[in-house]
Amino acid sequence: MIIAPSLLSADFSCLGKEIESVSRADWLHVDVMDGFFVPNISIGIPVVESIRKITGKVLDVHLMIEKPARYVKQFCLAGADYVTVHVEADQYQNIAEAIALIRGCGKKPGIVLKPKTPASAVLPFISSVDMILVMTVEPGFGGQSFMADQLPKVRALREMIDAGGYACELEIDGGVSEKNAAACAENGATALVAGSSVFKAADRNEAIEKIRAAADTAQRG
Ligand code: DX5
Ligand code: ZN
Repeated sequence: MIIAPSLLSADFSCLGKEIESVSRADWLHVDVMDGFFVPNISIGIPVVESIRKITGKVLDVHLMIEKPARYVKQFCLAGADYVTVHVEADQYQNIAEAIALIRGCGKKPGIVLKPKTPASAVLPFISSVDMILVMTVEPGFGGQSFMADQLPKVRALREMIDAGGYACELEIDGGVSEKNAAACAENGATALVAGSSVFKAADRNEAIEKIRAAADTAQRG
């Protein structure tokens, strides 16, 4: 299981140290919010550029912004590895364009679903993305409770990915912890974002290992 701590829960006054404190992470998840698509504003392109300079880890950039095609190229140039856009953030044609732009930059595009969006919404994009991200909270804030009612959707997406033989990752974001990591794995996730459950832990690397161990045990079983 890939574990991606969400930097939204980090202390931005010492982001470099915060990143060092999650050295056992596989990826780093970066939440970008515009105050329109979600009722919150977080960080943007210059911060991704700064993070890129201090870490070799995969940067998983989650764009919670309206009309993301306007900005995806800049996030790719800033050093993102995965750039994920919400299916709800624009019309079909423009989301397809965003995905093509990310691919054109040599980076990995992903599509994200809010809790109320059905699994079928990925169908037009599934063959052209490297990641499907399922939100298990309403996007906008860290520290919310995990919505277990999203797990059937995760399973449905796993079946769609396997049926089509697609190579994309299936990531879960929102309220993930050691307690629900097994259920995420059992339903077919391959990557887990964890914000508060990692950054609020006394030993963050230990928290990462516990989430990974719970998920890996469930995957084997
Ligand atoms: C929510 C963000 C998440 C969030 C996760 O809009 O997309 O990545 O930071 O934080 P936790 O794990 O605390 O729910
Ligand atoms: Zn996120």
